[in-house]
Amino acid sequence: MISYKELGLVNSRELFAKAIKGGYAIPAFNFNNMEQMQAIVAACVETKSPVILQVSSGARKYANQTLLRYMAQGAVEYAKELGVNIPIVLHLDHGDSFELCKSCIEMGFSSVMIDGSHLPYEENVKLTKQVVDYAHKYDVTVEGELGVLAGIEDDVSAEEHVYTQPDEVEDFVSRTGVDSLAISIGTSHGAFKFKPGQDPKIRLDILKEIEERIPGFPIVLHGSSSVPQDIVAQINKYGGKLKDSIGIPEEQLRKAASSAVCKVNIDSDGRLAMTGAIRKVMAEKPEEFDPRKYLGPARDALKELYKHKVLNVLGSNDKI
Ligand code: G3H
Ligand code: 13P
Ligand code: ZN
Repeated sequence: MISYKELGLVNSRELFAKAIKGGYAIPAFNFNNMEQMQAIVAACVETKSPVILQVSSGARKYANQTLLRYMAQGAVEYAKELGVNIPIVLHLDHGDSFELCKSCIEMGFSSVMIDGSHLPYEENVKLTKQVVDYAHKYDVTVEGELGVLAGIEDDVSAEEHVYTQPDEVEDFVSRTGVDSLAISIGTSHGAFKFKPGQDPKIRLDILKEIEERIPGFPIVLHGSSSVPQDIVAQINKYGGKLKDSIGIPEEQLRKAASSAVCKVNIDSDGRLAMTGAIRKVMAEKPEEFDPRKYLGPARDALKELYKHKVLNVLGSNDKI
């Protein structure tokens, strides 16, 4: 058993309390490899933002849980080397079992999500409480979820949103003891959220009702990529074949971030930024075969994207 505290990581409790008071949200960026991790840390150091490094089940399969944990430990040291000791949370994204959450906690994660949102309500309560009871012994924070997002999460996909029912949140939060709650109010996972011409709207009215039922409680938004149109155009210009799609407007995310929403999950926009930069190098310099020559520009593009999210969408800059 390794405590995250020995690794220089923090849990999310204090970060969320400050974010709610200050009217901003902490970025939760997924990572699977070194370049993504470097870009996240460099962007958050430059903007002096706390950050949540997220590991999904897919990331664990791709990169290995042990390596990712050591990379997060490395991230703490890397931030110090870059000159700013930013608070870093290592978080399990969409944990689907007690055993997985337990294994992450034992290996140094400071925060876990137990996603029982696909289960019947009482089963979700039972599973979430089991994880909370274990996690809290080690001062690890837990995110639960109520309501189902449309789109694809790992191997589970839902055609339609099942919005979070405000009349369930108080009971869920008090019976499980979770530290934060992910809700479904119209965001969705992946790069294909809405067709151009559609008018994407986060249900801020449901968010408001939820806030009234559990005042001051930390709320989490998944599926919050905005699918930047210039990056989609860049990918397609250099040989990509992405179908037209739009994401969650940044203006709406800004509004949500100024409320009790204190964690915003962004993964797909990073995938797009990396792909756009790599395609450009591949198309313009077909003679290149040194991975650093295309992964380096991908890392630069990612860093710019993350800085933009911190400064212009979430407002978490200068909050360390
Ligand atoms: O919620 C899903 C995240 O974007 C992680 O995606 O499971 O493909 O790593 P992944
Ligand atoms: P996006 O696919 O919108 O980036 O959402 C990521 C997410 O919610 C990770 O849990
Ligand atoms: Zn998610």
